[in-house]
Amino acid sequence: MPLNNSVKEAAVAIPVIRVPELPQWPVLSPAEQKQLKEEIKAMLHRQNAVLVAHYYTDGALQDLAEETGGCVADSLEMARFGTEHPATTLVVAGVRFMGETSKILNNEKRVLMPDLAATCSLDEGCPPELFSAYCDEHPDYTVVVYANTSAEVKARSDWVVTSGIALPIVRHLAQAGEKVLWAPDRHLGQYVQKLTGAEMIYWPGSCIVHERFRAEALAEMRARHPQAAVLVHPESPEEVVALADVVGSTTALIQAVVTMPNPEFIVATDAGIMHKMQQLAPGKRLIEAPTLGEGATCQSCARCPWMGMNSLQNLAEVLRTGSNEIFVSPDLARKAAIPIRRMLDFARTLRK
Ligand code: 13P
Ligand code: SF4
Repeated sequence: MPLNNSVKEAAVAIPVIRVPELPQWPVLSPAEQKQLKEEIKAMLHRQNAVLVAHYYTDGALQDLAEETGGCVADSLEMARFGTEHPATTLVVAGVRFMGETSKILNNEKRVLMPDLAATCSLDEGCPPELFSAYCDEHPDYTVVVYANTSAEVKARSDWVVTSGIALPIVRHLAQAGEKVLWAPDRHLGQYVQKLTGAEMIYWPGSCIVHERFRAEALAEMRARHPQAAVLVHPESPEEVVALADVVGSTTALIQAVVTMPNPEFIVATDAGIMHKMQQLAPGKRLIEAPTLGEGATCQSCARCPWMGMNSLQNLAEVLRTGSNEIFVSPDLARKAAIPIRRMLDFARTLRK
């Protein structure tokens, strides 16, 4: 599908991304699950630790985060929560960039993750050296990077954004007459350009989960469910976004299920989000949007294999052993914190 002509894509070769199998965890009996949760609760308490989980992680982890005074949130709120909580250890259940962002903002705290190999195709698809060279070729552009990137890529940027705040920040830059070099998600970049009119060039990365939603099958599904609202995360391709009633961050999509009167929702994002949606709106029917994997095997269709690497079992293990700590050198953290704090400060002005 050709991309919008008003945005220019970088002519770079994205590295081939090795997508792991979706992890299959041994099923715990209710008694085993209860016992493991109690053990984790006690360890969190003893270690002055708090659990910060993303909406795509396993429902048991999301519940545990909330039961223990932590949070389950989108990536913007996860970053903010860690800076305001007094715990000296942050346990981040999500993907690597989320743990790294926590460490960058809280370099004095210990940050643990259930699996350090839990990465993200956007992060993997934007190697720092290649990205830095692209920035060097375009010195007159303001560099805006999505949070789904490494600490090094963040350190090379002027602004970090998440899907929850990309639009107002790029709109703000466009109004100030700035040209934007965007990375790494091409679909989100194109969506942001369309809505803000900003002059943009961008990196051709993509999310292997959202890229697989299929517009044609989604249109057919919507026709079969005339009362349903279609909810789409903006990492999805343009033709899928075009069919949406609501496009937004994970938090925005959850709010839509709660506030919209529709009895049914077709959800085009990682299926982990349905746990919170169903908790907050138990009477609503949630339907997974169709993916390329319909009727075939598909590792990444609406289930992020890297988010799937988080479980109660490996969470308990890192608390028992203190393994899987995230380290970011103080110098790199200092540089990467500047554009992240710029985003958090901007977010505060929006809340006023
Ligand atoms: P949110 O910032 O909307 O939580 O999205 C993070 C992400 O990785 C989506 O795939
Ligand atoms: Fe990355 Fe996509 Fe997984 Fe989000 S869903 S963490 S963007 S691969």
